[in-house]
Amino acid sequence: MTRTVLITGATRGIGRAVAARFVADGARVTITGRRAELVEGAAKELGATGVVCDATDPRAVQALAERFDTLDVLVNCAGGLGNPEPAATELESVLAQWRADLNGNLLSAVLTTTALKPVLAPGGTAVAVGSIGAERRGGSYGAAKAALGAWYAALSAELGPRGVTANVISPGYIADTDFFQGAMTDAREAALIAETHDKRAGTPDDIAETAFFLASVGARHITGQTIHVNGGAFTTR
Ligand SMILES: NC(=O)c1ccc[n+]([C@@H]2O[C@H](COP(=O)([O-])OP(=O)(O)OC[C@H]3O[C@@H](n4cnc5c(N)ncnc54)[C@H](OP(=O)(O)O)[C@@H]3O)[C@@H](O)[C@H]2O)c1
Repeated sequence: MTRTVLITGATRGIGRAVAARFVADGARVTITGRRAELVEGAAKELGATGVVCDATDPRAVQALAERFDTLDVLVNCAGGLGNPEPAATELESVLAQWRADLNGNLLSAVLTTTALKPVLAPGGTAVAVGSIGAERRGGSYGAAKAALGAWYAALSAELGPRGVTANVISPGYIADTDFFQGAMTDAREAALIAETHDKRAGTPDDIAETAFFLASVGARHITGQTIHVNGGAFTTR
């Protein structure tokens, strides 16, 4: 059976690797991003369908959802560090930063998952990409990713009786993305790698393979979980 797969935020980085993994499996893959030229280029290179959609815009998300009668796999990758415009006061700056991070990392996945969940087919899966920042980073980005985990756990209880799983993948440091927007220094990267047990950075393919597994028959009893993929930089027990 050819699976229908939607991956948000897939013009580059982690989302693009997830898209490539499902395309390689023969799936019918749709990718999104906010910039038309990047969406068009990535879709062409991947052999996917590209749709321009800002995951924080409810009308755009509704229009995206209306393209699907049925969906087997949803992977919410859209997100990143918020960059709000400078504000006049310190408190307004705090508010702008929190709104940007909650919008980009929590509400983006809430809107997309809510719009698509009616068409998620039995045997299907919803995945959202969280972050080790939920455990480690005290600010608005970490709080947004932590809330994403909480919301996805509740979503799992809602979708489970329909035979649909819902999980968050929480990556540690992943190289070869634009996440750090050029701000990663050699020293910072070395420190992040030193925190891992396997002494390497994660790759977008590490996350792509985890998403692919969560969408496989072997993962049907894994739901309501946060799956940490970080080389041991954060451990669970
Ligand atoms: N890289 C890491 O070390 C790391 C670690 C933990 C978690 N993460 C998480 O992994 C996810 C993917 O990030 P990445 O590292 O692959 O970063 P990236 O290379 O910057 O890719 C982000 C992708 O998301 C798209 N995007 C961002 N906001 C969007 C929106 N509102 N609507 C639609 N598309 C949007 C971007 O395209 P446009 O900007 O053109 O829209 C791009 O395709 C994010 O949720 C991030 O928080 C990353």
